[in-house]
Amino acid sequence: MKEVTILSPATIANIVCGFDVMGFAIHQPADKIVMRLLEKKEIRIINKDGYNLPTEPEKNVFGGALLAMMREVKEEIGFEIESTKVIKPGSGIGSSAASAAGVVVGANHLLGNRFLKNELVRFAMHGEQIASQAWHADNIAPCIYGGVTLIRSNEPLDIIPLDFPPLYVTVIHPQIEVKTSYAREILPKQVSLKDAVTQWANVGGLVAGFMKQDYDLISRSLQDVLIEPVRSKLIPSFDKMKKRCLEAGALGGGISGSGPSVFMLSKDQATAKAVEEVMNEVYRKMGVEFNVYVTTVNSKGVEIVNG
Ligand code: HSE
Repeated sequence: MKEVTILSPATIANIVCGFDVMGFAIHQPADKIVMRLLEKKEIRIINKDGYNLPTEPEKNVFGGALLAMMREVKEEIGFEIESTKVIKPGSGIGSSAASAAGVVVGANHLLGNRFLKNELVRFAMHGEQIASQAWHADNIAPCIYGGVTLIRSNEPLDIIPLDFPPLYVTVIHPQIEVKTSYAREILPKQVSLKDAVTQWANVGGLVAGFMKQDYDLISRSLQDVLIEPVRSKLIPSFDKMKKRCLEAGALGGGISGSGPSVFMLSKDQATAKAVEEVMNEVYRKMGVEFNVYVTTVNSKGVEIVNG
C-alpha cells in the first residue's frame, strides 16, 4: 500500500489588519499525518489523538478536503488517514487548515502530483469550511505555499506569495477554546468608511513593509481598528499583554486568526524571547493554562517527510 507522512504547520491568519486576506506559516507547532492510498472510493479516518473529531468524511475537515479532490479524480481511489494532531482545534493557529492542507498535499503526492498549488488550496478550503462555516484561504494558502501570502480574491482564487524579511514569532496559546464560527458571528456586519480607510491603508503598508523588508513600516502597519476591538474581549488580559509585549520590543502583533492565541513579531531572537517572558508572566498570574512558542516564519509550508 502506498503511504506518505506529512508535516503540516500552524499558520497565523489575518496578520492583524488583513482580516481574511493575509497569513503566514510558522515552524512550530506542526501536525504529523500518515496517509495511505486505497483502491476504492472510500475515506477512512483513524483518530490517534485525543480530540475525538468526527470520523464521517462529510463532517470531518480531512474528509471535506479529500472529497473535493476526489470529485476531480476519475480513478476508483480513496484514502486512509491517521490523525495524530498536536495543533489543538479552536486554538487560532490554523488547526483545521493544517489538517485540510496536509491531506490534500499528501493525496496529491500519492497521485503523482497532478494538481497545482492553487487547486490544492481550493480543495482544502472545502475542508476548512466544515470547521469555520466560512470560505476563506488565509490559513490554507500560507500552509500550502509557505511564507507570507496575500489572498487578493477567493473566487477566482488569486494568491500572491510575498517576500519578507527574517522574522521571529512568539505565540501564546491559552488553553481555552474559541470557535472560529462564533468569533465570526460576533463581528459587525457593517463598518464606517473612516475605519475602512484606516484598515486598507494598514494592509497596503504591511504588504509594502514585507516586500521592502522595512521593519518600521511593518511595525506601523500592524494596527487593526475593525476586528481586534471586538474579538479581544474573548481573550483574558489581551490589552495588558499586548502593551507589555510592545514595551519589550516587539514590532507588533495581535490576535492570531480568530483567537484565543496571540502572536507578536520581532526582529531578532533575543526580543522574541523577551516577549515570551512577558507573556509567561502575564498568564502565570491568571491561573489559565497556556503554551508559548518562539518560532520563525516557515517558508516551505506543508512538507512530505516520508514516502
Ligand atoms: N480569517 C479568519 C478569521 C481566520 O479571522 O475568522 C480564522 O483562523
